Formats: sequence, C-alpha cells, structure tokens
Amino acid sequence: MTSPYSEYMEWAKTRSGARFNLASSGVAAFPLAELGARFEDLEICGDSGYGYAPLQERLARKAGVDPDRVVHATGTSMANLLVLAAAAEPGDEVLIEEPTYSLLVDAARWLRLDVRRFPRRAEDGFRLDPREVEKALAPRTRLVVITNLHNPSSAFVPPEGLRAVGDAARSVGARVLVDEVYLESLAVLGRPSGSAAHLGPEFVVTSSLTKAYGLSGLRCGWAVADPDLARRMWRLNDLFGVIPAHPAERLSVVALDHLDRVASRARRILETNTEGVNAFLAARPDLECAPVDGGMIVFPRLRGGDVERLCRRLRERHETTVVPGRFFGAPEHFRLSLGCAPATLEEGLSRLARALDEAD
Ligand SMILES: Cc1ncc(COP(=O)(O)O)c(C=O)c1O
Repeated sequence: MTSPYSEYMEWAKTRSGARFNLASSGVAAFPLAELGARFEDLEICGDSGYGYAPLQERLARKAGVDPDRVVHATGTSMANLLVLAAAAEPGDEVLIEEPTYSLLVDAARWLRLDVRRFPRRAEDGFRLDPREVEKALAPRTRLVVITNLHNPSSAFVPPEGLRAVGDAARSVGARVLVDEVYLESLAVLGRPSGSAAHLGPEFVVTSSLTKAYGLSGLRCGWAVADPDLARRMWRLNDLFGVIPAHPAERLSVVALDHLDRVASRARRILETNTEGVNAFLAARPDLECAPVDGGMIVFPRLRGGDVERLCRRLRERHETTVVPGRFFGAPEHFRLSLGCAPATLEEGLSRLARALDEAD
C-alpha cells in the first residue's frame, strides 16, 4: 500500500521556511486591517448547512454560474478531494498530468483510484498536448486532471486545448477536473482567463482565494460542477467537518465584496516581481526557462549541476528557499515563486545568483 502522506506538504510546512522564501506559492498575506471588515460583519454561528447563502451567491457571481453549481470548500485542496471522491469510485481510473501538484496524485491514491499519468514535456514548455490525453484515455477513465495555469510551470491551456481534452474525455464518459487556482493570477492582472467552467458539463473546476489574492488563511475554496455532481460533493463534505468555520465564511464575503482592492495590491506585487524574475532569468545562461507571462511560479531547469545541492546551499548559506524539482518528478528543475514582497524577491534572487555561481 502506498503512503497516504504528502511528502511535499510535510516539506513545505517544516522545511521551506526561510528569511527569503521563494518557495511559497501564494501572494504575500493580505492584512486583515486593510480588508475593510467591520466587527459587525462577523458572527460565530450562522446558517451554513449546504453553503452559506451570501457566500454562495458571491462565489456564483464570481464564477459566472448559478449557485447550485457551486460547492464552497476548505481551500482548493478540499475542493479537489471532493471532486476526486465524487466523480470516481475506488478502482476507477483517473488520468493525471505529469508533472503536477503532487497532492492531486496523493489524494487520488488515498481514495484508491487507479492513477495513470500523461506527460507535459519540459522540452515543449510543459504545453498541454490534447493528443497525449487521447492516447492515454481508456474506457474505464472517469476523470482527467489538469492544472491551469500549470503547477509548476505556469503554462496556460487555451480554451481550444481544453475543448479538445473535454471532447476526448466525453467520448469515454469521463469528466475533466481543471484546477484553476493559478488562473486567478490572470484575473488579478486584468487579463482574460477563460475558465473551463463555461465549456460544458464534462468540466469541473476548482479554485480559491488563497494564492493570487494573499488570502490563504480564509481557506475560501470552491468547485464548480454540474448540479448533480455538486450535490454529491456537498454530501461527501458532510464527512469532512460538516460545515466550515462561520467567521471565515463571513470574512470571505467581505473579501469578495472588496476583491478589486485585494487584487490591485496583488497586481502591483506580481507586475514588479515579473519584471525582476524575467531580468534574472535572461541574465542566467545556466538556467533554461521561458519568461514569466502572467503566472506566479516558474520552473527553470538547471543546465548542469545538482538541484538538490543547489537548494541545500541556498538554504544553508543564503537563507533562501525554492522548491526542489524532485517534488514534481523533475529533479533537474526547481520552482521559484513570484508572490512575496518585491524587496524579498530582489534579495532572494541575488542570493540565488550567488548560490548558482558557487561551485558544487
Ligand atoms: C495546483 C494547486 N491546487 C491547489 C493548491 C492548494 O490550494 P489551497 O491553498 O486553495 O487549498 C495548490 C497549492 O499549492 C496548488 O498548487
């Protein structure tokens, strides 16, 4: 039996912390004091049941769908778990992109789903090739799982690519789970993003306010699915804590009402940091990586050298962390995040440059 634990999450919680943390993937924490919440906006208990109506309404408006398609969940993490559990039965096959966010694979295995992988190739910029999905689909595939923007590379899957995956999945009666937690960064940057939620009933989308808005502590995640699947997810959620913490639901309502303000701060951070990271990448012939174009994370390949040793040196001598590529099954790469305060990124990148320049 495979371990039910996530190696990556244990590392992220216990070993990614550093003075210059370029490992943590979200935008720097948004301060409560700037949210515009009043004491009377909060309450300890409320009418949550299968969704707190004011929050359901706002999430549905944000997603551009009817509230009966929205399932509020504890972060994208729980939304993903609910989709996997509601859309497939133990022994069913799920087809998951590789590389990807490892928790998707860990959760599927823990649910006793039969995990198969299809490649997104580094030499192709991690572009999603729908033909790879078609090739790997089998009659017993119940779910295809992708991230858009891609974790770890931020590669964007355009609507025509998603439609091709949807058509292929539908031909065997499977659904497509699109984890869009990083697509929110395009919304923050004011760029059209095209959620898969509007592409057809075979698509199920998950997302949250955690990454692009710096609101991780609210754990405000959601899934958008067809109403039948959404109902199944609500019923499954009864097993995982019944209802969310109501003060977090209330604060999520306030955050959604002030999302423009939250997004403008995130936009300033991401725009400044995109320039910084792109200048850094352009100056490093030892790193192979396309420039950042709207994402919050990048996944450079170290040309020669050992990424594990680089990460150790970076942390021990330079108080800086990035995510080693081994957590994505790509040990020549490392993941670098753009969400931290610009001054942290600037200093972290100059320390990374020093660590790269030092001999192994
Ligand atoms: C693709 C992806 N999905 C989900 C999550 C978890 O998101 P949340 O904090 O909303 O649970 C992450 C976190 O890194 C992620 O990379």
